[in-house]
Amino acid sequence: MKVLVVGGGGREHALAWRCAASPRVGEVLVAPGNAGTATEPKMRNIPIPAEDTRALVRVARAERVELTIIGPEGPLVDGVVDAFTAAGLACFGPNRAAARLEGSKAHMKEFLRRHGIPTARSATFTSANFDPDWVRAQRTPLVVKASGLAAGKGVVIAESIAEALASARAMFAGQFAQAGNEVVIEEFLPGEEASFIVMADGEHILPLASSQDHKRRDEGDRGPNTGGMGAYSPAPVVTRAMHARIMREVIEPTVRGLAAEGTPFTGFLYAGIMVAADGTPNVLEFNCRLGDPETQPILTRLTSDLTVLCEAALAGRLDQVSAQWDPRAALGVIMAAAGYPASVRTGDAIEGLEAAARLPGKIFHGGTRLEDGKVLTSGGRVLCAVGLGGTVALAQRQAYALTDAVSWPGAQYRRDIGYRAMARES
Ligand code: AMP
Ligand code: GLY
Repeated sequence: MKVLVVGGGGREHALAWRCAASPRVGEVLVAPGNAGTATEPKMRNIPIPAEDTRALVRVARAERVELTIIGPEGPLVDGVVDAFTAAGLACFGPNRAAARLEGSKAHMKEFLRRHGIPTARSATFTSANFDPDWVRAQRTPLVVKASGLAAGKGVVIAESIAEALASARAMFAGQFAQAGNEVVIEEFLPGEEASFIVMADGEHILPLASSQDHKRRDEGDRGPNTGGMGAYSPAPVVTRAMHARIMREVIEPTVRGLAAEGTPFTGFLYAGIMVAADGTPNVLEFNCRLGDPETQPILTRLTSDLTVLCEAALAGRLDQVSAQWDPRAALGVIMAAAGYPASVRTGDAIEGLEAAARLPGKIFHGGTRLEDGKVLTSGGRVLCAVGLGGTVALAQRQAYALTDAVSWPGAQYRRDIGYRAMARES
């Protein structure tokens, strides 16, 4: 069969790589893909942007694609699955109505409240009804969030009331365009974060392996927020008991609630969880897609056929399949371009990829492109080096052997990915 993966980051490289590993799959098309997907066996890049729904439907028809998997949230929130479904094409992901869970944090917070799912106390404002006195009455730190999609950058942890007020006003004034028309302000929750990602078919749930990412740019989890500087799976904070609790208190009521409200969710559902000191799994966010970079270590551990799982979900049969996992830990380190997460320098030639390919582990490409046979940087998060090992520490060692083999001018990465998990191990 032919599979189409939509997107061009590290998550999509990993999705395409997992699909290509299936003996059922003859070819994986990736739109638009990157230098990694351009050079893998059984893969072919299609130069169509992930946002061009019409062109994607056209190519899926013309190429007789039997399964499409959408990577990024933008096309999902815009209704790409609705367009594929209307054309009679199998496409794994939530439709537009279900994807609103990620597309509007204001909507998400109301949904959580309606269903009694644990989350930070919050209020939602527009510039018309903004109430600075409400803000002044809160304790700091306060978390200020643009309600719409802001590429992971629309969250400010404000240490003072003045900073919270200024952040909200900047969002109303257009810092994140339309995404800041509504602003959610919520209490700061201390604790340890985990990413809990499941597949859902509208009714049934298949949990994926747990994972945890490092969102801050600098070592020790300091510095500006990013899309993620590294991730590992499993996440030791998600013990067996915590897994059961997250399923019972968060995932099951969410999937049930969405179905009951007439917006059943099919696709990857990602809950960003802050585990409180008393063990309460508070929802920080929902994403209607896989995480990047969580996907790279998660799929490195998946030994089941991903295309079989997606097809079972599309048929409403997720209760009849199971996912098998490599028992080892996987850990991915993001190598980012100079300047990330602000404006980045691109166009640098990446050296050492061939030597790295002979080492154990796997490098997934994100912001790369192929030009005259050379791999050049073309985005902020350039590569994700994934190692496997019997412990997180061993997986980390393998991942850093890969990053050490690769270089370009201005490359930056954290040296401490996985340190919390390693502290729990020892
Ligand atoms: P979000 O996009 O809503 O997940 O926020 C991005 C990041 O900001 C999260 O991964 C957390 O690290 C942090 N964050 C968001 N909301 C809160 C909160 N209420 N308390 C503490 N940290 C938060
Ligand atoms: N790594 C966080 C995300 O994909 O949203």
